[in-house]
Amino acid sequence: MPALVLLGAQWGDEGKGKATDLLGGSVDYVVRYQGGNNAGHTVVVGDQKYALHLLPSGILSPECTPVIGNGVVVDPAVLLSELSGLAERGVDTSKLLISGNAHLITPYHTTMDKVTERFLGKRKIGTTGRGIGPTYADKINRVGIRVQDLFDESILRQKVEAALDQKNQVLAKLYNRRAILADQVVEELLGYAEQIGDYVCDTTLVLNNALDEGKVVLFEGGQGTLLDVDHGTYPFVTSSNPTAGGACTGSGVGPTRINRVIGILKAYTTRVGAGPFPTELFDEDGEKLRRIGGERGVTTGRDRRCGWFDAVIARYATRVNGLTDFFLTKLDVLTGWERIPVCVAYEIDGRRVEELPYNQSDFHHAKPIYEMLPGWSEDISGAKTFEDLPKNAQAYVKALEEMSGAPISAIGVGPGRDETIQINSFL
Ligand code: GDP
Ligand code: IMO
Ligand code: MG
Repeated sequence: MPALVLLGAQWGDEGKGKATDLLGGSVDYVVRYQGGNNAGHTVVVGDQKYALHLLPSGILSPECTPVIGNGVVVDPAVLLSELSGLAERGVDTSKLLISGNAHLITPYHTTMDKVTERFLGKRKIGTTGRGIGPTYADKINRVGIRVQDLFDESILRQKVEAALDQKNQVLAKLYNRRAILADQVVEELLGYAEQIGDYVCDTTLVLNNALDEGKVVLFEGGQGTLLDVDHGTYPFVTSSNPTAGGACTGSGVGPTRINRVIGILKAYTTRVGAGPFPTELFDEDGEKLRRIGGERGVTTGRDRRCGWFDAVIARYATRVNGLTDFFLTKLDVLTGWERIPVCVAYEIDGRRVEELPYNQSDFHHAKPIYEMLPGWSEDISGAKTFEDLPKNAQAYVKALEEMSGAPISAIGVGPGRDETIQINSFL
């Protein structure tokens, strides 16, 4: 029955973790379908704060089964430390399911990520250094190592040797690095097999059976639409498909089974790492957004770049994901501005442009055209209904909804589960 996708509509860090956790109590399965531990999803439950990187945010709801789908790249060391960290805090992680087809991030992938970034110098992407790009590159190159390979030593050894034959040449000749020993990698990986084994299964079968039985499945995206390798600001993107189609390829559930696609949208914009960002602020307003919004990376601790809301991007997210709803987050952060600029279109080489330009250099030149919306000064963190919001905050939400092309069905007014105004139910 219902299958929902929940994904980032901007450049990540929109508040997907909070939104997933909020729904976690009402759904049967929460599935990560792409990315890896480059994600940092914050969930606040009461006075407890959790930072999840690889595990689906639904893991905090006891009745929900968390699933790591085939499209995810799994660093087994990170997986185990995240699991034990949660277990120490009393979270039951025993229901976790991991696809045997998911690819493994090995120590040579993280090494390759770091050396290639260093090699790029000024042209670097600003990756999280977690080995994401090299692992997806190996997957596409058909020299990747999958979770299922952990359980067959001979195959594992053959695959690691084949991958390293090539990589060690590059490491030594191009990057002046020492070779990585296949034996060491194999030994380390085999050490994880027993601890991970019980979680591994055919998740595609489990999820399709669950949908046949009328269970509710929620797909949780990592990163965001503009970081998508096909639809984002390439090459300043991640190496997977956070957009809605990725939920199908990354889980083995067909598109006809997806009923709803919810875009998580911050009431302003942030970005981590390099790449174009038309509404970026370099002044006091940018500092203020960073300070009030706590805009510091959950994974790398880097300051996030901050800017005003960009409706061109929101419209684009609606288009490429087929969004049915938005969940607008962090509206409370905008309290206290007299007027709030919102980017409604771009000026590119003297022309007004309403849609996201597909041409990379046009996007690099895009200058935001702003409309000024009146702000509000009242504290909105206790608001429970739309009507509780000050009139100008209501008007801000309505204006964003009109510009963005899909209904805003929920509004975040604080980091906690209950600091949410639900306008339309998601289920
Ligand atoms: P994700 O990667 O999309 O899950 O987002 P992050 O967790 O990286 O960043 C979002 C941050 O905003 C986290 O610190 C959340 O606790 C916080 N947050 C989420 N929704 C709201 C909201 O509506 N208001 C406020 N003030 N904080 C929020
Ligand atoms: P969540 O799920 C924000 C960015 C990195 C870099 C680019 C490529 O918390 O929203 P990668 O390590 O993926 O090869 O880096 O993507 N990036 C994110 N930015 N939030 C994330 O995840 C991100 N995951 C990757 O900063 O610019
Ligand atoms: Mg994040």
